[in-house]
Amino acid sequence: MKRICIIGGCGHVGLPLGLVLAEKNFVVTLLDINKYTIDLINNKIVPFQEDGAVEILNQVLNKNLFVTADKEVIKEQDVIIFITGTPVDEHHNPKIHEVMNVIEKYMPLMNKEQLIILRSTIYPGTTEIIEQKFHRYFNATPKLAFCPERILQGKGIEEIKSLPQIVSAVSDEAGKEAAGIFSKIAPKIIHLEPVEAELSKLMLNTWRYLEFAIANQFYMMVEDKGLDFYKIYNAMTEDYPRAKSFCRAGLAAGPCLFKDTMQLSAFYRNQFFLGQSAMLVNEGLPNFLVSQLEKKVGSLKNKKVALLGMTFKANNDDIRESLSFKIKKELEFKLAEVLPSDPYLKETYKLEDALAECDAVILGVPHKEYLNLKIYKPYVDCWNVWKNER
Ligand SMILES: NC(=O)c1ccc[n+]([C@@H]2O[C@H](COP(=O)([O-])OP(=O)(O)OC[C@H]3O[C@@H](n4cnc5c(N)ncnc54)[C@H](O)[C@@H]3O)[C@@H](O)[C@H]2O)c1
Repeated sequence: MKRICIIGGCGHVGLPLGLVLAEKNFVVTLLDINKYTIDLINNKIVPFQEDGAVEILNQVLNKNLFVTADKEVIKEQDVIIFITGTPVDEHHNPKIHEVMNVIEKYMPLMNKEQLIILRSTIYPGTTEIIEQKFHRYFNATPKLAFCPERILQGKGIEEIKSLPQIVSAVSDEAGKEAAGIFSKIAPKIIHLEPVEAELSKLMLNTWRYLEFAIANQFYMMVEDKGLDFYKIYNAMTEDYPRAKSFCRAGLAAGPCLFKDTMQLSAFYRNQFFLGQSAMLVNEGLPNFLVSQLEKKVGSLKNKKVALLGMTFKANNDDIRESLSFKIKKELEFKLAEVLPSDPYLKETYKLEDALAECDAVILGVPHKEYLNLKIYKPYVDCWNVWKNER
């Protein structure tokens, strides 16, 4: 069986993939620089919420799944998969040099027989730049593929096994080899050229971000006029098939949607007006929610506000780019005392304490633990889980 090394293997995308590959008997090494998560995984602890991960980890750890910070392991591999982060800078441009730095760090340990798979979400054209880099180094065309990840965080294991896998490569040989690996874990392979595959991933995330933005824009438009958005939303969507996928309002946050929309915008010379507008709408929702609370309770100065849900999505423990923190900042700017509470995070208020102590409540994220609460204090709930009484 092939020996596969995943660089960034202890991350939210690397670990689920490593587990699924190991479950299919590949010999997998997770290589990472984060000693803390390496130790956790080596002690059979999954560092974040990921359905089904613990069970597989218990089966495969130190049999055909190994976790290390020792980069020398790269020399012994058949396949190297890169899945490190791909952020944007403060001007919303992709930080391509971060991807390049990781590649350059490991390049001296690699050889031209190895299949290299890029799996981070990358700026269009990056695969070609990386191909040139390897070409110069190996003095031959590298076996290089770009195979984007499209999983929903926390459901990665389930989705890797159920979603079609897009495969693109710089040569037929690399494409066939990459498809051979993914066909062992995914139900279907879809072939694209590298730049098409790069765009497909960015466009999917951007489309999702825009879906949230239109719901959020309508929500703010309607609620600002003192009307009930969800009364209209329910009427619009009830038994109306074309509106089946119409999103509800809610904080559109997390490490991917915003930055991938900005990457696509940079790709189109910042002329991507829909994407830019979606960013303004989604990033403006936290401020709107605070102003809604102000309308209900008057000045927030010295008021205690329970902020329920600090993670970026429901039923998950990931706080990366969570907009609840933007709500918190805005409340603090209004001199309110914030009581952050989240059942998935240590060192936040207990739900019952926050509710007992507060003067008002904002729902940041609709964790399942909140769905059946009865709130007896003024509140703002853009998700409509508490069915606003007017
Ligand atoms: N999180 C998601 O649901 C999701 C879904 C699809 C695609 N993506 C994309 O996947 C990529 C990774 O995202 P993530 O959420 O897994 O990020 P993450 O931060 O959870 O994981 C990245 C991992 O890479 C490690 N790392 C960083 N530099 C390294 C180096 N030089 N050598 C070895 N390891 C290194 C980090 O320690 C970390 O464990 C990004 O491009 C992201 O856009 C994420």
